[in-house]
Amino acid sequence: MTTPAPLDVARIQADFPILKRQVNGKRLVYLDSASSAQKPQSVLDAMDRVYRESYANVHRGVYTIAEEATAAFEAARGKVAGFVHAREPREIVFTRNATEAINLVAYTWARANLQAGDVIVLSHLEHHANVVPWHILAAERGVELRWIPLTADQRLDLTDLDRLLDGASLLAVTAMSNVVGTIVDIPFLVAAARAAGAHVLVDACQAVPQIPVDVTAWDADFVAFSSHKMLGPTGIGALWAKAELLEAMPPFLGGGEMIRDVTTEGFSTNDIPWKFEAGTPAIVEAVGMGAAVDYLQAIGMDAVREHERALTEYTLGALRDRFEDRLHLYGPPSADDRGGAISFLFDGIHAHDVSQVVDEEGVCVRAGHHCAKPLMRVLGIPATTRASFGIYNDRADADALVEALVKAESFFAI
Ligand SMILES: Cc1ncc(COP(=O)(O)O)c(C=O)c1O
Repeated sequence: MTTPAPLDVARIQADFPILKRQVNGKRLVYLDSASSAQKPQSVLDAMDRVYRESYANVHRGVYTIAEEATAAFEAARGKVAGFVHAREPREIVFTRNATEAINLVAYTWARANLQAGDVIVLSHLEHHANVVPWHILAAERGVELRWIPLTADQRLDLTDLDRLLDGASLLAVTAMSNVVGTIVDIPFLVAAARAAGAHVLVDACQAVPQIPVDVTAWDADFVAFSSHKMLGPTGIGALWAKAELLEAMPPFLGGGEMIRDVTTEGFSTNDIPWKFEAGTPAIVEAVGMGAAVDYLQAIGMDAVREHERALTEYTLGALRDRFEDRLHLYGPPSADDRGGAISFLFDGIHAHDVSQVVDEEGVCVRAGHHCAKPLMRVLGIPATTRASFGIYNDRADADALVEALVKAESFFAI
């Protein structure tokens, strides 16, 4: 593949209104996109337009603006489907977020198919969203959870993969760590899981905003992601699943929209994907998510990936040069193997203290366990400080981080 042209970050920054503001008298340097990304003007405008010009509930009214709202909502589904290369829009179920998408699978497919003694394989990289639903199921059903361990640089250690997958019903794994950035080889894992007869759920919450994702090529069974990490609004996410699986699964929540008929005796379910979308959906948010897809597609996901890779490489190099072994960097050493999240820890300085001091310089980084406590336990630490990049970040932001960290280090020097 030829390397895509570098992003015109100055132009991109101009599209994000929040980047014009100052924090503590300093330029806002937003380095927390792994947690939630900022929104471009086009997303804000698309949502504003629906509220101002064609807001109504969807799938119900036959009047003009209701039809416009329905068309906009379903067009957004089509955009999301196209973005991740689903075979058809009905393979995209709108959910509140990735967490709900994973829970949907746990409460429908898994409860319909898994019994006591069945096995689910997870990894030590997982976000709590891809851990706790399976713990709940394990406690309720007696399902066994097995864990793929990590190498010393927080890649999946696949030495025992065949044994772990032996007899498994489901492999549920992240495509990219939100803490240490590790990119996971999903096609390899899908092939191994298929050979063992297991279904595969991919938590693509970090991957969809950062790398070209082709769910059809991945050939997993379920893929979950959130709009708010991919420049779209909060309150909406998606579950992709193969149409035949969605057809066979029982519904999740009951109520309006998800039914074909209701009598005093019972109900029948709507077609997919609406069978899984009970109640009034996040109409305007879906349109915003569609606008975010438009924005990312105009840039091109190959270019987005190269931007994240190059900025991560630059920042890892700058951090190593400046702080040497006083700063512990987690995750694979090469940016080729990781997305744009860098977790680090100074010897003897608490992750939260660092985050607070750099905030005084306008630099927003996250400190904590990043909803990945099993990983923190493996690392033997309670927390890291994490800087994570979006398409609107550049080397000046990385430099601002390094300078702010110099201040933090000297502030806490004994
Ligand atoms: C890898 C990963 N999975 C799942 C989630 C949960 O996403 P949400 O809070 O949008 O449901 C996150 C959010 O940080 C994440 O990074």
